[in-house]
Amino acid sequence: MSNNVLLDVRNLKLYFKTSKGPVQAVDNVSFQLERGKTLAVVGESGCGKTSLTKAILRLLPRNLERFEGEILLDGQDIMKLSDEQFRKEIRWVKLAMVPQAAMNSLNPVIKIEDQIAEPLLVHDRTMTKKQAIAKATEAFKLVGLPVDFLQRYPFELSGGMRQRATIAMALVTDPELVILDEPSSALDLLTQANLMNVLKKIKNEIHTTFILITHDIGTASELADEVAVMYAGEMVERCDAAHFYTNARHPYSRKLMASVPTLREDKELEFIPGQPPSLINPPSGCRFAARCEKKFGKCSEKPRNVELEGGQRVQCWLYDEMEEERHAQ
Ligand SMILES: Nc1ncnc2c1ncn2[C@@H]1O[C@H](COP(=O)(O)OP(=O)(O)OP(=O)(O)O)[C@@H](O)[C@H]1O
Ligand SMILES: [Mg+2]
Repeated sequence: MSNNVLLDVRNLKLYFKTSKGPVQAVDNVSFQLERGKTLAVVGESGCGKTSLTKAILRLLPRNLERFEGEILLDGQDIMKLSDEQFRKEIRWVKLAMVPQAAMNSLNPVIKIEDQIAEPLLVHDRTMTKKQAIAKATEAFKLVGLPVDFLQRYPFELSGGMRQRATIAMALVTDPELVILDEPSSALDLLTQANLMNVLKKIKNEIHTTFILITHDIGTASELADEVAVMYAGEMVERCDAAHFYTNARHPYSRKLMASVPTLREDKELEFIPGQPPSLINPPSGCRFAARCEKKFGKCSEKPRNVELEGGQRVQCWLYDEMEEERHAQ
């Protein structure tokens, strides 16, 4: 990959303590993201998407069991920073996030304008209120909201508008990377489509780097440059978004696609029988094996994450063997 890498995550682990044992929500996840690109992260509920974003932003719960790995942002290992340094220099300054269900977490008694300006005032002591409001107004325009709505309270905005306001709040500090956790999942279909258009427009206008968590593979392949598939705490595939429909290799990715309805073709929908394994003591081999039609002997061992042509990565023995054969020839 080129030296234009903004985010380089290596062997990231985030486990939570529970009475039944540690939950391996993020297990040895590694990936890189180039500056200005959008990575969509997809996968079934509970596979660790939100946990991955929390690990990157170091928003850790009290029942933390294990948090390790390397997270290089612009070459700097931000895992090595103290909590105070991380708070001052990284979170909301270089890394911002729109959390899952963010639109419902706006403060009901504070005007939108003040809420959007707040991250600026907190992180830059030299900034005046007037400058902060000017920046908030800019961010508001970027997400396509009428500026007079800045004077309103959250309840005076529709769900879609509130969601745009939370995106403005994440963008206001000009962060290098913005993580959006299911930005459209609580919205109706039309509002979802509008929001996706807004995100497309923002992407074109400001060239920020995004991680977009979504359940929706259609959105992912349309809006993102690359798609990462998570399964049971692991990142099992990483593929160019434009070719995801034709090139996704992991049997789970293929099943995931076959289970998504599309408007363009009239196909029989498949569903994936069975359930993901528990993340407390998950199987030591491939975590998808129990549901996989292509399972064979080797799958009882943990597959390596192999790189295929074009930088695509897949964690599945089927391709590992192919790679070995290719190299042996
Ligand atoms: N603080 C916590 N303590 C214990 N387990 C947790 C905690 N937070 C998350 N989990 C568990 O970790 C796993 C991953 O959860 P996570 O929220 O990251 O999944 P997700 O992919 O974002 O799911 P969804 O699509 O439903 O948002 C789940 O099994 C979840 O129950
Ligand atoms: Mg989530």
